[in-house]
Amino acid sequence: MLYGDTIPIDSKEEIMDRIYCKIADRYDITVEITTFGLNKLLKRRFVRLMSPIAGLKMLDVAGGTGQIARNYLAYQDTVNNDTSSSVHVVDLNEQMLRVGKHRFASTQWARDGRISFAQGSAENLVDIADNSFDIYSISAGMHNIPHMELALSEVYRVLKPGGLFACLDYDRVETPIAKQINRWHIKTFAPAIGQLLVGDRPSYERLVRSVMSFPHQRDFVKAISQAGFILPPGKGYKSMLCDNMVAFYGTKPE
Ligand SMILES: C[S@@+](CC[C@H](N)C(=O)[O-])C[C@H]1O[C@@H](n2cnc3c(N)ncnc32)[C@H](O)[C@@H]1O
Repeated sequence: MLYGDTIPIDSKEEIMDRIYCKIADRYDITVEITTFGLNKLLKRRFVRLMSPIAGLKMLDVAGGTGQIARNYLAYQDTVNNDTSSSVHVVDLNEQMLRVGKHRFASTQWARDGRISFAQGSAENLVDIADNSFDIYSISAGMHNIPHMELALSEVYRVLKPGGLFACLDYDRVETPIAKQINRWHIKTFAPAIGQLLVGDRPSYERLVRSVMSFPHQRDFVKAISQAGFILPPGKGYKSMLCDNMVAFYGTKPE
């Protein structure tokens, strides 16, 4: 079966946390290799499609080593000539956060207090106030979360009215040839790279099962809408990276 495999829901958060502890130090390099270097372009595009104006506060959940945060701040600096926008990264895993903090430590963003990190679960953002962020982003994170409906209700709670929800995750490819390539990529190539770089094939096989638990894009669009968000015109999602990834955007009503 290509899709639909799941990790037991009650132990999923703990299992995912253990896996990310193991792979944190090699996460960035592994992502570059498994996406054949396209990861940077993909994440840049994901941020560009948010069309952020200057001065916005972003909450990047499941933000890991801060790849989206870096892209967002770079976009604000270069496109909007803005030095007041900021990102707060929240992630379940302390090792991913450690790597992220280290990567930002020597940047002007860190010196200016425009980037911060905190440990927490997407299902219960206890330290985040209601209506407090302009953008909530989550990249390659939603598929890890056992109860996505809880995470979506937290997105709604913490965003300001008019705020943007942006989610990047794995697409369900539908054409037979794309399915074959996808099957090879996620079942053979990614675990082989995991074995090579981290010496841990089983962790990558688990990650793949987690990726496969992400719903079909049409169902996730429905879930976003049911959570109360206004969807953009059209089908409500944008396929990227030869239909391997999909970006969702929704707005909290004013
Ligand atoms: C594939 S990484 C993505 C990291 C980053 N967003 C990116 O695009 O590079 C998934 C991240 O989700 C985090 N994560 C898993 N379950 C989570 C949860 N329930 N709440 C918050 N973060 C979670 C992991 O610790 C990991 O850092």
